[in-house]
Amino acid sequence: MRCALVSRSLDLRGYLGAEFARIADCVEIVDHRRSGPDADIRLAIAWHPPDDAFEHYPNLQVVCSIGAGVDNIIACPSLRPGIDVVRIVDPAQAQMMSGFVAWHVIGHQRRFATYLAQQRDGIWQRLSQRSAQGVAVGILGYGEIGQRVAADLALLGFPVMVWSRTAKPTPPSLRGFHGPSGLAAMLGETEVLVNLLPLTHETHGILNGELFARMRRGGYLVQVGRGEHLVEEDLLAALDSGQLEGASLDVFVAEPLAPEHPFWRHPKIMITPHDACEVSVEAVATTLVATADAIRTGQRPPHAIDRARGY
Ligand code: NDP
Ligand code: OXD
Repeated sequence: MRCALVSRSLDLRGYLGAEFARIADCVEIVDHRRSGPDADIRLAIAWHPPDDAFEHYPNLQVVCSIGAGVDNIIACPSLRPGIDVVRIVDPAQAQMMSGFVAWHVIGHQRRFATYLAQQRDGIWQRLSQRSAQGVAVGILGYGEIGQRVAADLALLGFPVMVWSRTAKPTPPSLRGFHGPSGLAAMLGETEVLVNLLPLTHETHGILNGELFARMRRGGYLVQVGRGEHLVEEDLLAALDSGQLEGASLDVFVAEPLAPEHPFWRHPKIMITPHDACEVSVEAVATTLVATADAIRTGQRPPHAIDRARGY
């Protein structure tokens, strides 16, 4: 089956090269066709597709993301209703995300920023220590990645609360919340807030001043969802007022973050370049093969998202 590579921001062939060779007897990779219809194409793999990308493929059935998130694909104006969108579910990615989040939660608990500042000034000064049990973590999103992050933080001794859209069973080590009233209840107890939501109409702008005000004073934000979740000026106000002590930001509305953006030089913000974790190229190739098989046999592909829900 032929599969079109569609991206305006990434060299997908370079990124996935060796894996394409491995799956070549099942999926033939072709570069995006920029003019004229290509009726042979039923499968595409995409990341930030150009607006008109899918117009060229009248028989397109499935678009695969190369990541866990699909927001940049569903936002593409030429993605017709009825085309399935598949995301990557990769346990190794969830594990890597878990380490990244734990780094920041522990960094807040153990005051790494203060030690770094002390080191810069040559100050030998012990700081008072807090146990993990005293630092309550609230996680927005209890999906494939949120579940792994929550379980690992609980093992480290943090009291962990998780929030989802629908009610979800949780093990005894976690407390589950759902829906708008559940969010308010969770925030009231949250010191470190971890955002692991998908970007949808409902979650756009969810990290705003009202939400920060509901958290415990002196809290910390770990923002690894999508840039559009965050109202940037509200974060700056919450940091300036002390409502939040700090924030770790991995995702931004415009990536790369513009050199003049105030986040770069803010003393309470730590920036990483959308690098909290990555999907393995093996997982992408395996997903492509499973998707091609599903198309051939007329099945719905595994990990196809619900287009109405947006994730
Ligand atoms: P999943 O789809 O598996 O889980 C999404 C979770 O969010 C579910 O628990 C879902 O609730 C919940 N959710 C969705 N909408 C709402 C809402 N309106 N209110 C409350 N909860 C909601 O996603 P993943 O765990 O795989 O990934 C989550 C996101 O993490 C990705 O979409 C991406 O944005 C981000 N990400 C970032 C990376 C990075 O490097 N920074 C890397 C990978 C992912 P329910 O369970 O009820 O359906
Ligand atoms: C993402 C990813 O969705 O890296 O951000 O998988």
